[in-house]
Amino acid sequence: MWGVPLMTSPAFRVFDSPAAAVRELAFEVSQLIRSRAAAGRQAVLGLATGNTPLLFYRELIRLHREEGLSFTNVTSFNLDEYLGLPRDHAETYWTFMHRNLLDHIDLPAAQVNLPCGTLPDGEINAHCAAYEERIRQAGGLDFQVLGIGRTGHIGFNEPGSPKDSRTRRIQLDAMTRQDAAAAFGGLEQVPTHALTMGCGTILEARRIVLLAWGEHKAPIIREALRGPVTDQVSASFLQEHPNAAFYLDRGAAGALD
Ligand code: GLP
Repeated sequence: MWGVPLMTSPAFRVFDSPAAAVRELAFEVSQLIRSRAAAGRQAVLGLATGNTPLLFYRELIRLHREEGLSFTNVTSFNLDEYLGLPRDHAETYWTFMHRNLLDHIDLPAAQVNLPCGTLPDGEINAHCAAYEERIRQAGGLDFQVLGIGRTGHIGFNEPGSPKDSRTRRIQLDAMTRQDAAAAFGGLEQVPTHALTMGCGTILEARRIVLLAWGEHKAPIIREALRGPVTDQVSASFLQEHPNAAFYLDRGAAGALD
């Protein structure tokens, strides 16, 4: 019998520039939001932080200001948050999201969800379970945007994170903390733990787009797309997702065939 592939790899697309990639991504997301609005329904977006999605958020803000895109029918869930920083610390993801997106669009505050990084240890498990429950009650994630860390993590799912992991507390990898050290003004200022959606939480999204720019991401992009599916590189789980894509610039795609 002629072969049906046993496993389909996620599509990857190589763009001339990050700006070209995020225009395409923002268009796709805006179509989802508008079609849901026309049907009187919510669009449920999973959002990421880091330098990578900044241009994407800028494009969403432009669509809101110049092309009338409204976010009033959007519910958002962020992937992760550092543990142990006050909410308004300059490096929390709460601050990042407000500064770079939420303060500039009309997404109602009651529809914005971020894991809370200020809880005492005893309340964390219940908070993570409630976060999962809110995603379920919203109908699941329609569209998840991802970046990728040098350890291959999506969200903060560091090496060893099982494919079926759920929202939980995680210890940050040494490489991840090193990468954050400059922003925090020194390694010792970087939190040691975070809350993150699990790989299982992320993989249940109906559509996933992972963004990566620059040559420094090329080795881990190659591992994620071409290497074995392994919990040592949580982005490799996307190989088994039916509707995931990698949007890359030429630098990030530089180690692919
Ligand atoms: C952090 C975030 C990830 C992000 C990664 C890469 O670890 N938790 O969600 O993908 O950084 O960041 P950057 O986009 O700045 O390279």
